[in-house]
Amino acid sequence: MKIAILGFGNVGKQFANLFSKAGHEIVLGLRSISNQELPYPLTTFKEAAEGADVVAIAIPFTACADVLPELAEVTKGKIVIDSTNPLNADWSPKLLGQENSAAEEISRLLPEASIVKAFNTIFADVMSEPVKNGQAITAFIAGDDDEAKQKVIALASDIGYAPIDTGRLYTARYLESMAHLNIQIAVGQGGGIDAAFIYLQNKGT
Ligand SMILES: NC(=O)c1ccc[n+]([C@@H]2O[C@H](COP(=O)([O-])OP(=O)(O)OC[C@H]3O[C@@H](n4cnc5c(N)ncnc54)[C@H](OP(=O)(O)O)[C@@H]3O)[C@@H](O)[C@H]2O)c1
Repeated sequence: MKIAILGFGNVGKQFANLFSKAGHEIVLGLRSISNQELPYPLTTFKEAAEGADVVAIAIPFTACADVLPELAEVTKGKIVIDSTNPLNADWSPKLLGQENSAAEEISRLLPEASIVKAFNTIFADVMSEPVKNGQAITAFIAGDDDEAKQKVIALASDIGYAPIDTGRLYTARYLESMAHLNIQIAVGQGGGIDAAFIYLQNKGT
């Protein structure tokens, strides 16, 4: 598959590396494409999304309202992976209301795309090593379009994570709260970012 990665920061770099190792073609969408020598082809957000089968968002949630509207047409019918977390500048939770989430906001910005929430609960620092001490990090995955969600589940599995389908897109509310908790433990409590969720299902039965 051709995967457009929007943003090439901590998460974008890990996505590019993991997806290309799994045999996918990568194109980067960036806000500034001048004077950069990167290991993947780079272009504008719009061109990257236009030429791709799957689009992965790896920019701050707070930038989405500016960046995504011009991608509404070119993402029509495509899978869009939302890895964002609603955060304030100090990494505290940006509260969007009880019946809302970044993923649902993004689905309103890209109404004809199939939004799949994934990878937002995994710190970029541990993304490169999906299996640690013999245990695969859990990739919690939510979405309304079952076919799109199954493709992202397969993608997560291909790159080494243990995917779990959490249900429809609204369950991104819970996944975003998990990311807030992850940040609170790592940063607020000084636990560090070398940490990840592993969901033990049906163990001990
Ligand atoms: N870091 C983590 O551990 C982690 C884990 C899971 C999910 N996430 C989520 O993943 C997303 C990316 O996080 P990150 O840590 O990779 O961030 P980052 O390292 O700061 O990179 C952000 C990327 O977004 C671009 N960007 C920033 N502001 C922008 C704007 N206003 N308009 C367009 N592009 C903009 C940056 O471009 P420039 O280089 O031009 O500034 C950069 O390519 C966030 O939504 C975050 O909540 C992060």
